[in-house]
Amino acid sequence: MENITIKINGTEVSAPKGSTILEAARIAHIEIPTLCFLKEINEIGACRMCVVEVKGARSLVASCVYPINPGMEVFTNTPKVLDSRKKTLQLLLSNHERKCLSCVRSGNCELQTLAKELGVEDEAYYDGAVTQSCPDDSAAHMIRDNSKCILCRRCVAVCEKVQGIGVIGANDRGFDTNIGSAFKMGLGETSCVSCGQCIAVCPTGALREKDYIDDVLAAIADPDKHVIVQTAPAVRAG
Ligand code: FES
Repeated sequence: MENITIKINGTEVSAPKGSTILEAARIAHIEIPTLCFLKEINEIGACRMCVVEVKGARSLVASCVYPINPGMEVFTNTPKVLDSRKKTLQLLLSNHERKCLSCVRSGNCELQTLAKELGVEDEAYYDGAVTQSCPDDSAAHMIRDNSKCILCRRCVAVCEKVQGIGVIGANDRGFDTNIGSAFKMGLGETSCVSCGQCIAVCPTGALREKDYIDDVLAAIADPDKHVIVQTAPAVRAG
């Protein structure tokens, strides 16, 4: 296959023709942060965390969807790039339930990790409207909490392209955009098979497995409808 040579941060990098800047950077072990990208599954340039500067381009470009060209010069860590990524993170966190300490994904959350790396944890966030949502616990084995969703659409892509189920999608438009099931049904009312692929690819705590405590709380709230199907781990004396 024909290779193309570009420069990234002054270093020559060769990558197959048709590669994106992100793919070329990964070949050269140059780190570019991503949130929405999932190779060959979700390449939609939605989150803008992967922006880089390209010499001659009028604005920053999303490296996960921008193809390389011969002689291209790319810069991945200029002040302009870092400032843009930081502002994107601040915007995401401004409309995010920032209760990391009580979140099941704390310590294993891509958003939390990037916030730490870019030092935006304790920064002032943007004031303004906050999306209102209620967790969907209608499915047997999982909970969707859109207060932690960053609209990356990885779950949408994996449900459709990997599992071939396609019960997750975007509802509404603009600031009101939210990820859920068609006609805003609860996940439990759809043909979701609880495969858990969406949980595995979620970069935050927006999707998680139900646990025993969730079952107990639901049973306390509505004992006629909810039957506890899981058993608590056995406690052995001695
Ligand atoms: Fe490139 Fe999200 S990783 S836009």
